[in-house]
Amino acid sequence: MEPVETKKSERVARITSGITGFDEILKGGIPSGDIILVTGTPGSGKTTFCMQMLDYGARHGERGLYFTLEESAKDIIEQFKTFDKGIEDLIESGMLKIVEVTLTDYESFKGMIMEEMEAIDAKRVAIDSITYFQMFFADIMSIRKAIIEVSQIIKNHNCFGLMVGEIPYGENKLSSFGVEEFAVDGVVALYLMEKDGSFIRAMRVVKMRNTDHLTKFCPMDINEKGIVIYPNAEIFT
Ligand SMILES: Nc1ncnc2c1ncn2[C@@H]1O[C@H](COP(=O)(O)OP(=O)(O)OP(=O)(O)O)[C@@H](O)[C@H]1O
Ligand SMILES: [Mg+2]
Repeated sequence: MEPVETKKSERVARITSGITGFDEILKGGIPSGDIILVTGTPGSGKTTFCMQMLDYGARHGERGLYFTLEESAKDIIEQFKTFDKGIEDLIESGMLKIVEVTLTDYESFKGMIMEEMEAIDAKRVAIDSITYFQMFFADIMSIRKAIIEVSQIIKNHNCFGLMVGEIPYGENKLSSFGVEEFAVDGVVALYLMEKDGSFIRAMRVVKMRNTDHLTKFCPMDINEKGIVIYPNAEIFT
């Protein structure tokens, strides 16, 4: 009897996200080693998405490192406490570290990422947000090169990386500069969509190298458990 062909996607090592419904969209999880852009409109859940993935990793033995270029660590912790009351214990135990980035030169920023990753042997890293890379450079091609370089640094460390991007409200774009989505392996877009005068949440995997995935808009919710995605439901019924 002929052996049953294993689909390529099933042979790829995958990361469990910790976000209900998300791994189903990717046929089992994000291919490990991929760098993902988590982009979205204002308030769409980008920070929660990344924190939830780091929180899950930290609870399962993978140290997480969250670089925040905008919000204070205190604000991020306060907000995330509503989803995980144990977040401060994870930080206390060294499984999760939130680093406030105030540097304005790229070389120092790069050095800091490397040092922090090595110091705690991080397995999951998030940078929120890369839109702030514009404070390092005057031109967009340099920003694109920097995203690729930072991605490579994270990969060389055998780490999984999340980069937060921004979709300007009301614009048909995936990012602020229009290059971020090309410099990464995967793109997850989060939306607050207007429907019948109110807003509904949705997410879509725009691209993901090394795996098959759903491409449709999936309904999404943020509740007391954090982000929940419904891959089998439709947004507009
Ligand atoms: N406990 C909660 N229950 C339900 N929804 C919540 C809860 N906490 C936060 N939210 C929702 O999540 C949104 C913010 O999520 P988050 O900060 O992750 O978004 P963001 O995309 O990072 O925002 P920003 O564009 O400001 O960076 C809030 O505007 C709120 O609607
Ligand atoms: Mg945010």
